[in-house]
Amino acid sequence: MPRRVIAVEYTGPEALRLEETDPLGPGEGQVVIAVRAAALNPADGKGIQGQWGADLTKLPLRPGSEVAGVVTAVGGGVTAPRVGDAVVAFRVVGGWADEVRTSAANAFRLPADADLAQAAGLLLAGTTAWHLLEATGLGAGTAGADTAAGRTVIVHGASGAVGELAVQLAVLRGARVVGTASERNQDAVRALGAEPVVYGPGLEQRLRALLPDGADAALDTVGTDEAIDTSLALTGDRSRVATIAAFARGAEAGIHLLGGGPGADPGSALRAAARGPLVDLFARGALRVRVADGYPLERAREALERVMSGHPGGKVLLVPTALPDRRLLG
Ligand SMILES: NC(=O)c1ccc[n+]([C@@H]2O[C@H](COP(=O)([O-])OP(=O)(O)OC[C@H]3O[C@@H](n4cnc5c(N)ncnc54)[C@H](OP(=O)(O)O)[C@@H]3O)[C@@H](O)[C@H]2O)c1
Repeated sequence: MPRRVIAVEYTGPEALRLEETDPLGPGEGQVVIAVRAAALNPADGKGIQGQWGADLTKLPLRPGSEVAGVVTAVGGGVTAPRVGDAVVAFRVVGGWADEVRTSAANAFRLPADADLAQAAGLLLAGTTAWHLLEATGLGAGTAGADTAAGRTVIVHGASGAVGELAVQLAVLRGARVVGTASERNQDAVRALGAEPVVYGPGLEQRLRALLPDGADAALDTVGTDEAIDTSLALTGDRSRVATIAAFARGAEAGIHLLGGGPGADPGSALRAAARGPLVDLFARGALRVRVADGYPLERAREALERVMSGHPGGKVLLVPTALPDRRLLG
């Protein structure tokens, strides 16, 4: 019987349980995916803590919004993907499972030899990073849009999942990127093509030493006052600063608020449209995802605790099935 992870209360990682379910069949326009890797995100933890609301009628929650795996069944009207295709899927419901069912429109084909562990962590962080760049005038270069070429960009939290993809997209678009991270992640940030700086007291001086003329844009994936203050100081222009984490402080400062927070721009259409281009870039090796570790479904609690530590060291995954192929764990 397939298994899935559920959350039975609004508390924290201790709310997780593993249960057996009936095998899924695809409805019209849907596909069923055998999950090889499912990503955990801070948003999963926040949802389980009740930060998005604690409606008891919605329990149990079925966390897990992004997976990579292989299509095992397709419903009526589905022409792509096909059974046997490797896919990455986002946004799904209940991805921390042996199998998941979703609209075919959410499943993107990957090359047969794609690294499914990396792919599983690509799209939530990637679409968020895409939105950050678009909001600050570093867009993909559509007619009339500003582009990143020759611009200087600060990425706060450059060693995090969203930060790493924001760095890579900005570098691909021709920007010079300075990224903040802890001491132990300086090399990881450098490897992405950015200039690393350590966050913490004295950050503004360290940024000014690298960017004496300031920065053209600043992207905050951390949410600290330090990140917002230094972003405003270095850009001198709140329209060039965006946050995905500091909603109260960001509203006060008049910067771009992105995502699901109060008063924020969800950017739903923009993010949905970014999935295809992100998968294309990943498939041709232009983007990569740092994988911290993969845990079996039975250890979902431990995996979520690691994500909620705020310093996971890369994407944390659940890997439901015994993996014949070590590539799945990098
Ligand atoms: N609004 C949206 O649409 C949206 C979408 C996705 C994520 N988010 C939110 O954005 C945040 C980041 O998500 P993620 O998936 O990238 O998380 P993640 O992979 O866990 O990364 C968190 C990063 O924050 C860094 N960090 C921790 N404390 C810091 C500090 N005091 N100063 C500077 N950096 C610090 C860590 O760096 P070190 O490990 O080097 O210390 C780590 O790289 C989360 O709060 C998440 O909920 C929002």
